[in-house]
Amino acid sequence: MVESEEPTSGTMADSLISNLESLSPLQLFERVTEQGEKVRALKAGKAPKDEIDAAVRMLLSLKLSYKTTTGQDYQAGLPPKDLVLINNGATKEDDEDLVDPWNVQTSNAKGVDYDKLIVRFGSSKIDTDLINRIERATGQKPHHFLRRGIFFSHRDMDQVLDAYENKKSFYLYTGRGPSSQAMHVGHLIPFMFTKWLQEVFDVPLVIQLTDDEKYLWKDMTVEKAYEYAKENAKDIIACGFDINKTFIFSDLDYLGASPGFYKNIVKVQKHVTFNQVKGIFGFTDSDCIGKISFPAIQAAPSFSSSFPQIFNGKENIQCLIPCAIDQDPYFRMTRDVAPRIGQPKPALLHSVFFPALQGAQTKMSASDPNSSIFLTDTPKQIKTKINKHAFSGGRDTIEEHRKYGGNCDVDVSFMYLTFFLEDDDRLEQLKQAYTSGELLTGELKKVLIETMQPLVAAHQERRKQVTDEVVKQFMTPRKLAFEF
Ligand code: TRP
Repeated sequence: MVESEEPTSGTMADSLISNLESLSPLQLFERVTEQGEKVRALKAGKAPKDEIDAAVRMLLSLKLSYKTTTGQDYQAGLPPKDLVLINNGATKEDDEDLVDPWNVQTSNAKGVDYDKLIVRFGSSKIDTDLINRIERATGQKPHHFLRRGIFFSHRDMDQVLDAYENKKSFYLYTGRGPSSQAMHVGHLIPFMFTKWLQEVFDVPLVIQLTDDEKYLWKDMTVEKAYEYAKENAKDIIACGFDINKTFIFSDLDYLGASPGFYKNIVKVQKHVTFNQVKGIFGFTDSDCIGKISFPAIQAAPSFSSSFPQIFNGKENIQCLIPCAIDQDPYFRMTRDVAPRIGQPKPALLHSVFFPALQGAQTKMSASDPNSSIFLTDTPKQIKTKINKHAFSGGRDTIEEHRKYGGNCDVDVSFMYLTFFLEDDDRLEQLKQAYTSGELLTGELKKVLIETMQPLVAAHQERRKQVTDEVVKQFMTPRKLAFEF
């Protein structure tokens, strides 16, 4: 393998090095990557030996320059660290979790190791200091998603707070890929949190429905994707967003209607190379060009000029994005581009993943009705699913359970309660009782069933009130109840 060959000294011309010195780390990275591809192609095409040798020598010199310039060894697919554009898939170690917009994989029953992810992604932990600061700035008790580490990581949240304390406003941006009509309770997590943020900070919110993304990635017609976008909008609206402060848009609709939005897309497209998206997202030469350019579309709402009707044409309003951590690659790319197109970098708040009923290491899938609780489930379905499928951290027999106690770290019913049971004291009591063996799995499941049934029923009730007309209002480009 070419990648493992160490550079040897004395093979490169000095002029090559001085030429390379003028390149930025990223340009150098791209040169090494290109050269690596060339060597591979030559070898695969059984080119003459001296041609291959020359190309390998060139590769080694490039790697050496890369090391001299960046202080880091070249690693395929891993751009220089100071660019924050860190690939999280291709270079993963065997025991590392895989996390990108399309995959979440871990072998650990407790789920993904989030502390490690913070280090790998180069984000910051949401610590007690930050939570206290949010409490001081808003005068509100922090949401239990913050108190319980469900939103656990951030980028530049302190800057948002600095500005907010100086009476400078910001706006919220989040989104959803409408892959099917069926949404489950896990999909609500970012929206429940965003609703809270909107209330306590009193700021505008834009919600992107990436029906275009789903059309590109799934086997689905554009019409279907757009239809799902509007159906999903109903579930999102049912979370309680303020119609005067919220703009929801379908990409298929709004992109064509907003020159401001499209201008930002092309600006981002001009500043990201194919090698970069390959590195960040793992795209290959055989992915359709729609996928390759899509990240620019998810980036564009991070810039206020994409919404002139809301921000009165102002370009520099700070954006804050609450999202699940798997969306971070999009926004690492966005943050890298932002200063180069004269825009502020969006700040981020990252959440953990919502576990499947079968356990934190299995993937939840909208096509498996038993993998989660859906927003359309009846009370009876909820009960059966939890009783039958929720992975238990309890012991095999009652005797053993009483003696050794249950394990909350892997028990899915307990995990779900940390998301949905707001009462801190009650949750702590349950944890102690389950861990000590006093509370049995069946009893813990009963608490979860009684928590989820009314929550889902109330959602269904609110969703019924959301007519097509209401959806249309939310999705109409318009000024919101804020002056800019
Ligand atoms: N790509 C996301 C998904 O598939 C949808 C999305 C678009 C999004 N913009 C966003 C999610 C901003 C969070 C924040 O679900």
